[in-house]
Amino acid sequence: MKFFIDTANLDDIREAQALGVLDGVTTNPSLMAKEGISGKNNILKHYVDICNIVDGDVSAEVISTEFSEMVKEGEALAELHDQIVVKIPMIKDGVKALKYFSDRGIRTNCTLVFSPGQALLAAKAGATYVSPFIGRLDDISTDGLNLIAEIRLIYDNYGFDTQILAASVRHTMHVIDCAKLGSDVMTGPLSAIEGLLKHPLTDSGLAKFLADYNKGN
Ligand code: E4P
Repeated sequence: MKFFIDTANLDDIREAQALGVLDGVTTNPSLMAKEGISGKNNILKHYVDICNIVDGDVSAEVISTEFSEMVKEGEALAELHDQIVVKIPMIKDGVKALKYFSDRGIRTNCTLVFSPGQALLAAKAGATYVSPFIGRLDDISTDGLNLIAEIRLIYDNYGFDTQILAASVRHTMHVIDCAKLGSDVMTGPLSAIEGLLKHPLTDSGLAKFLADYNKGN
């Protein structure tokens, strides 16, 4: 299972990279705005800064919603750095853009996916990654994890190569449940990754080992 961090915060990205378990980064316009990054040139520079910190894939989102504009914008993003994956929203022109990029070997991440039908379309169009937003489904009393299970079943039935990127992961249990369900990737905040570390028995066990060691020295 690949671990992506879902942020535009360079300190968090460095921290996750230093842990040695980071496989990539996802961003979106809201995450950029949260870090105070605005204006086309600053945003493009920020993508390159992120690529220079991590080894893996970095999703960069188009803001156009019309096919030819998406193509232009996506091609420019892909040229920024070879780690860039072009993030395309699940709308009609987005499906066309996914196919366009897939035919040309440009990797894509289909974002804002909330149903199995959308995920099926993304795979048919050749998306590299599909991003079901599980946290946002949970927010409206719908089972986000069930969507991961449904997409896994559909993709396995037909051997689609599109990787399931569980997005809008909010906490550690989302990570564990996505791993159980066979999600290929998860993207979440640093806290969801670091939360996997925690167990009180580890902490008390280590404290006892160290105390016992120190008794004899
Ligand atoms: C995915 O790529 C999105 O950036 C993201 O996971 C959205 O998460 P949120 O619902 O926590 O905003």
